[in-house]
Amino acid sequence: MKKKITILPGDGIGKEVTACGKKVLEQIAECFGHEFVFDYAVIGHDAIESTGDPLPEETLTKLKNTDAILFGAVGHPKYDNDPTLKVRPEQGLLKMRKELGLYANLRPIKLFDELLEASSIKPEILRGADILFFRELTGDVYFGERGRKNNNETAYDTMIYSKFEVERIAHKAFKAAQTRKNKVTSVDKANVLESSRLWRAVVQEVAKEYPDVTVEHMFVDAAAMKLIQNPRSFDVVLTGNLFGDILTDEASQIAGSMGMLASASVGDKVGLYEPIHGSAHDITGKGIANPLASILSAALLLDISFGLKEESETVIKAVEKTLQEGYRTKDIADSSTALEKILGTEVMGNVISNQVRIITSIDVNR
Ligand SMILES: NC(=O)c1ccc[n+]([C@@H]2O[C@H](COP(=O)([O-])OP(=O)(O)OC[C@H]3O[C@@H](n4cnc5c(N)ncnc54)[C@H](O)[C@@H]3O)[C@@H](O)[C@H]2O)c1
Repeated sequence: MKKKITILPGDGIGKEVTACGKKVLEQIAECFGHEFVFDYAVIGHDAIESTGDPLPEETLTKLKNTDAILFGAVGHPKYDNDPTLKVRPEQGLLKMRKELGLYANLRPIKLFDELLEASSIKPEILRGADILFFRELTGDVYFGERGRKNNNETAYDTMIYSKFEVERIAHKAFKAAQTRKNKVTSVDKANVLESSRLWRAVVQEVAKEYPDVTVEHMFVDAAAMKLIQNPRSFDVVLTGNLFGDILTDEASQIAGSMGMLASASVGDKVGLYEPIHGSAHDITGKGIANPLASILSAALLLDISFGLKEESETVIKAVEKTLQEGYRTKDIADSSTALEKILGTEVMGNVISNQVRIITSIDVNR
């Protein structure tokens, strides 16, 4: 298979971790006989410095003409410390999502057994938890009418959803459930909010087309509690932009570290794959960032954008095997980790890439 992949390293540790994601994709191409052609584009602080624009036209053109995007993160302390700056790195991210029509954010929450102890939740509650979130990305309170009135004494943001926005992401969630445990939990606040009542009615309508999938509706407050109390009871979770923003961060604790979680943002065209973490200024340049979220994002890219399931599973197996052998980056190491098994970013990328080669050479008679 010949495909074009655009790497958007962005800022901070984005550059360090996407280099590892790319390395693993190159290894997959070599081992499975694919041709991946890579190119690069700038976004965020880097792009502002070089062009004055957080998402330059040249970048957008490249992204519209590629088969998949591997993204790092955007952000720089300069902007975090000065909220009055008008041109900001995250504007590049929001514009990119809108321009590419990336309306569904998929976030798999899966805990590797080897990291059970790294989570703040008890291992017996966590073991076997495997959740796939579908968070709507282009509607809701983030995009509704907002403003100030009464001489600045009052502020408002409007929570708004249209039927088509709920339908298109609901179909994606139900289809995904059919490849998993056939269950969708739709999360809303339909006892109070009108937009949630529309959300629930549309999901109920869409559910009729998937009779093999069990659907349950849960209020967001109950869902927040149940995620921690019994994470194993969830399969696919479907929710709006605001509730999804909060619940996915809560659920990231199930996986132990920010450095472990990958995500995919998809619409009807090109898909974008990125770690859930940011540019992490506190560790930038130290060579200690955990590249596993970027590598697992590359695994999602292979599966979702290219339909290469075996290749994707090979990457996940390589991560599993590496953790089983005791290798850790600093963020997921604990007092039982031998010092020589604590690896820097680049070495961890090399170990996983090497593991991909070992797994495929063992399976060479496949
Ligand atoms: N999608 C994005 O581009 C995105 C998302 C979140 C935050 N940000 C931006 O990133 C910057 C920093 O934000 P923040 O500190 O709130 O969030 P962050 O995710 O960058 O970091 C939070 C904490 O987790 C640690 N961490 C994050 N990723 C890690 C990894 N791969 N390995 C080891 N440790 C890791 C960091 O060192 C830090 O202590 C800000 O400018 C923010 O706007 C960008």
